[in-house]
Amino acid sequence: MIMKRDKSKYLLTTFGCQMNQADAQRIHGILASLGYQETQDEKEANLILFNTCCVRQHAEQRLISRIQALNSEKKNRPDLLIGVAGCMAQNLKEEMLEILPLVDLVFGPNDIEQLPLLLQRSRNEKTMGNFAPKGAFDGESADGIILNRPFSAMVNIIRGCTNFCAYCIVPFVRGPEISRPIDELKAFISELAGKGVSEITLLGQNVNAYGKDLGLKEGFAQLLEEIEKIDGIRWVRFLTSHPRDFTDETIERISQLNKVCEQYHLPVQAGSNRVLKAMKRGYTREKYLDLIAKVRSKIKDVSLSTDIICGFPGETEEDFEQTLSLVKKVRYESAFMYYYSPREGTEAAEMKNQIPEAERKERLARLIDLQNNIALEESQKQLHRELEVLVDSVSSKKQGHVAGKTRSGRVVDFAGPESLIGSYVKVRIDRARIWTLSGTLVQEAG
Ligand code: SAH
Ligand code: SF4
Ligand code: F3S
Repeated sequence: MIMKRDKSKYLLTTFGCQMNQADAQRIHGILASLGYQETQDEKEANLILFNTCCVRQHAEQRLISRIQALNSEKKNRPDLLIGVAGCMAQNLKEEMLEILPLVDLVFGPNDIEQLPLLLQRSRNEKTMGNFAPKGAFDGESADGIILNRPFSAMVNIIRGCTNFCAYCIVPFVRGPEISRPIDELKAFISELAGKGVSEITLLGQNVNAYGKDLGLKEGFAQLLEEIEKIDGIRWVRFLTSHPRDFTDETIERISQLNKVCEQYHLPVQAGSNRVLKAMKRGYTREKYLDLIAKVRSKIKDVSLSTDIICGFPGETEEDFEQTLSLVKKVRYESAFMYYYSPREGTEAAEMKNQIPEAERKERLARLIDLQNNIALEESQKQLHRELEVLVDSVSSKKQGHVAGKTRSGRVVDFAGPESLIGSYVKVRIDRARIWTLSGTLVQEAG
């Protein structure tokens, strides 16, 4: 008997930031409603989708090689559909097909609701989304998404970005800032809580701008206060915070809330005022350090992380040393560090004073070295403490171990049964590495 290939299996790979992760929740939801089943096996999938990022050139190159590697698979199985979604698709549109002729379907983040139609069309012809900038958050319900982990969800509270930092392509691909109204978010999050979600992560390129377009003052603080009242939600995280828009009043009001976790991602990008100005970040080194001091004074045990770019056009050795000195001063628990990547269409890409790539990379290596030492020392401060952990998975490293995250977002593994997944427990920390902690279960909390 000839085995008939199951007609509808898909493999979705997501790159980039949390915006893309949140979009993936919706793509999974739509594909499930169409009767598709998820697989991790390329050979078994008849729909292979890539949810892409274009914030740095490196991300694009990786994607291109990944898809090119599917060449022989596509030749052997002409019925295999290959689709490109996300930011790179939105940015390049039809050009995507010139770069990668084996692709069947290209659509942007604002076309996801059209996916059923687009998929149907792509069976007969190369298909493009319409890449329209989107007006409102319409029809996103908790029923329409599928979560990686049933107890944890990402919730987009503000789309797009209107900041136009000189180096950044995101405002061009994701469009202007549009907030989702508070009432809709309350209903959405309550619905999620009703389905067993206890941890939510609120997302936006600049969550501190939440509500401005709706005419709200301190909209972000208001939203957090409303979420605090939703039964079933225990932990609330958010990212990304923009240092320019994080007000004293927001910090003060957050410090009164119990559910908001002590984890702040405050991208600084550079430590020198000259570079910050050229980047158009809208704050100075002094203002940023002042903000950090305020956060630390109001939020006990707060964990701070950041993003930093090395080798922005015109950055001198002295400028870069200012970045190193800021990192030493703040002592971040973690940092995402990159070397500057010119993006076509952005202001910085046109600047004449570009730094040679080798130099950008050399600065990045120095920064990573410094930050890794700091991260290890900060991590070791957790030793012997008892921390609350939301268990989220079976540990990939050790048999019989499970893993989870603390309120401050640190990854912890410990010996324990799989049945703990989804629950909140107390763990005593016995070992601290740069990225992760290990511990012993001391209490199976409720
Ligand atoms: N909205 C967030 C950042 C989103 S992009 C913020 O304002 O902080 C994520 C990170 O990618 C940025 O913080 C920045 O550090 C990095 N990044 C963006 N454009 C880049 C570029 N052209 N080259 C290198 N890194 C870049
Ligand atoms: Fe990019 Fe700046 Fe917007 Fe962040 S705030 S997404 S870095 S333009
Ligand atoms: Fe990348 Fe798009 Fe996010 S460009 S960083 S996936 S908004």
